Amino acid sequence: MGFSSSGKKWLSEGYKKMMGGLVNTKHKRFGILDGHPVSQHHAQAAIESQQSLKDNIKALKKEFKIYRWNPDLPSQKPLLKSYYVDLARCGPMVLDALQKIKSEDDSTLSYRRSCREGICGSCSMNIDGTNTVACLKPIDADTSKPTYITPLPHMFVIKDLVVDLTNFYNQYKSIEPWLKTKKPPPDGREYRQTPSDRKKLDGLYECILCACCSTSCPSYWWNPEEFDGPAALLHAHRWISDSRDDYTEERLQALTENDKRLYRCRTIKNCTATCPKSLNPARAIRQMEAMKSKNPISARIANTK
Ligand code: SF4
Ligand code: SF4
Ligand code: FES
Repeated sequence: MGFSSSGKKWLSEGYKKMMGGLVNTKHKRFGILDGHPVSQHHAQAAIESQQSLKDNIKALKKEFKIYRWNPDLPSQKPLLKSYYVDLARCGPMVLDALQKIKSEDDSTLSYRRSCREGICGSCSMNIDGTNTVACLKPIDADTSKPTYITPLPHMFVIKDLVVDLTNFYNQYKSIEPWLKTKKPPPDGREYRQTPSDRKKLDGLYECILCACCSTSCPSYWWNPEEFDGPAALLHAHRWISDSRDDYTEERLQALTENDKRLYRCRTIKNCTATCPKSLNPARAIRQMEAMKSKNPISARIANTK
């Protein structure tokens, strides 16, 4: 069998390299492989080829257009600033890109983040037109177009991607998100729940209060103070559905005493479509409306717990 000239070169260089690895210990780096020269050589070759791969790989640059606004520079108008991130040297999620930009390019970029795993709800923002949490949003690897990152829509911006959530949290507080009871626990220690009653809280308790739903809701955009918004209403339903809570009727009454807190929902379902935790606030709102319509004011809610 004959070899082409490039094949011969490859063979002879490979041979030299291998012999070098066998007889020359100057590259030896793996103490655990002492006495195993071929393995030493393979390990060294693996490191070299990995390095040359890294050196040769073309930088995969992705453009991120990020909303910037600094209240300390009032003369500067809000703008979309371009940043370029080498995807070969970046984690897979949009939050990874933001972290890379902030640590390597521009430390003045402001955004919230904490857990980086979809638990704290703080990294919510609008990415390519959709509200979501940046740590659960994979980077679109199509480098022919930029990724646009802007703050949650229809919110007051504090700086860059940080929005003012005061009203959002006040609405959450207004639904009294804690267990309210009228009598002490039967055993004097704790309020118990059957597994089937506990199951009724699935799809409700997982909310991380990221505000993606409320800030995607057109009804909330136009009535941010009167309408509680899907996030607070999902939590209201969570406590209304809790078999241990004794204030179902009062909670429903409080939500429906005017036509805005609950009834401003128009079933557009943007909330459900955008929730990064795959929850369904629109259904929770519908269920509370149905419970209310079946039960006249001050009537005890039947079959709801
Ligand atoms: S379903 Fe209701 S709460 Fe959800 S986005 Fe539509 S109007 Fe808003
Ligand atoms: S319901 Fe979903 S989108 Fe809305 S605050 Fe909770 S986790 Fe976020
Ligand atoms: S950093 Fe916590 S949800 Fe993204």
